[in-house]
Amino acid sequence: MSDLLRWRAEFPILDTCTYLVSHSLGAMPRRTAASLQEYADTWASRGVRAWHEGWWGMGRAVGDLLAPILGVPTGTVSMHQNVTVAMGIIGSCFAFDRARRRIVMSDQEFPSNMYLFEGFRRYGAEVVYVAARDRIEPELEPLLDAIDERTLLVPLSAVLFRSACVQDARAVIEKAHRVGAHVILDVYQAAGTVPLDIGKLGADFAVGGSVKWLCGGPGAGYLYVRPDLAARLRPALIGWAAHAAPFDFATGPVVLAGAPERFQSGTPNIPALYAARSGYEIVAEIGIETIRARSLALTRRLIDRAEAAGWPLNTPREDHRRGGAVILDVPDGNLIAEALIQRGVIVDHRPDAGIRIAPHFYNTEAEIDRALDVLDELVAAAAPRNAGRH
Ligand SMILES: Cc1ncc(COP(=O)(O)O)c(C=O)c1O
Repeated sequence: MSDLLRWRAEFPILDTCTYLVSHSLGAMPRRTAASLQEYADTWASRGVRAWHEGWWGMGRAVGDLLAPILGVPTGTVSMHQNVTVAMGIIGSCFAFDRARRRIVMSDQEFPSNMYLFEGFRRYGAEVVYVAARDRIEPELEPLLDAIDERTLLVPLSAVLFRSACVQDARAVIEKAHRVGAHVILDVYQAAGTVPLDIGKLGADFAVGGSVKWLCGGPGAGYLYVRPDLAARLRPALIGWAAHAAPFDFATGPVVLAGAPERFQSGTPNIPALYAARSGYEIVAEIGIETIRARSLALTRRLIDRAEAAGWPLNTPREDHRRGGAVILDVPDGNLIAEALIQRGVIVDHRPDAGIRIAPHFYNTEAEIDRALDVLDELVAAAAPRNAGRH
């Protein structure tokens, strides 16, 4: 039995259902309730004094907890509401009225990256989507070919949300740097389940959130900026928290703080920061290599059974290409996912992908088997209906 199973007692939801949806919302650690209580007690007892007794510096402190998980130095991560806001701050560092004004990304990226940068067309940006023929493991070459001297930014998911494919970030960063472009690595589907060494990879920016594998809950997005770049960039989407002396309330142009505060907007999202810490601490305590080994063993078990049952898989089979989730494309997947949830097997379904099943370090082999037994029954029950279709 895995040593990691001692962690199960720390995640109350595991007593109530078969929880296999950590690619969407990681389970809440028991200690998060105590942390949120501490927030309430601090607010209630210290009131406005709390800002200078810890709250004001909390974004940096929480970013520093994340730094080893991301593989970046301390003092390089700022906290924001979500990935979209962090991406917006990055976009606001650049001008889009010159020859280099392209934003190049795969059409398999998370849609909000597209929605956000579509809006930058009004500032002169050209948004280029590279169509994937293989939607499970998009081809690398067409993306590399599309990155040239006209390219300013390349948003790239370290792990794709639709297929859980691990992308070749190293190759993309290498090509982008050769032609003077910047890569924004979206590590949301990787952080907390796949080892990351963002500093060594040389990514210019990294963004992500805490809702999924980090078990940190909503409202704690993060932004890493490569230190030498951070010192040069002047983001436009900022507020008073980005000022070198915010409590001077100086009027007129901003005197930017150093990194990471210069990327800050307004009042920090304090309750979300309290909530996020415990998940980071647990992931760091267990160690990401240990989590990855367990994740691969559990997803391998899922894949072996899915293949034996003949269910189509929309996930890479090779371990080094696969993140933490497995996507099964059975007929009527959305209805089957709903039926699974009703039977206490918590998963989700995405269009053009299938049923996403995501074990984390706290799941057992027995839970995987139970999920697949129920799935087996549901697929068998639906089969006669589907056979009648034309
Ligand atoms: C890869 C990836 N990027 C971005 C997002 C969305 O991030 P946010 O809601 O924090 O803007 C998600 C959420 O599912 C995601 O999987």
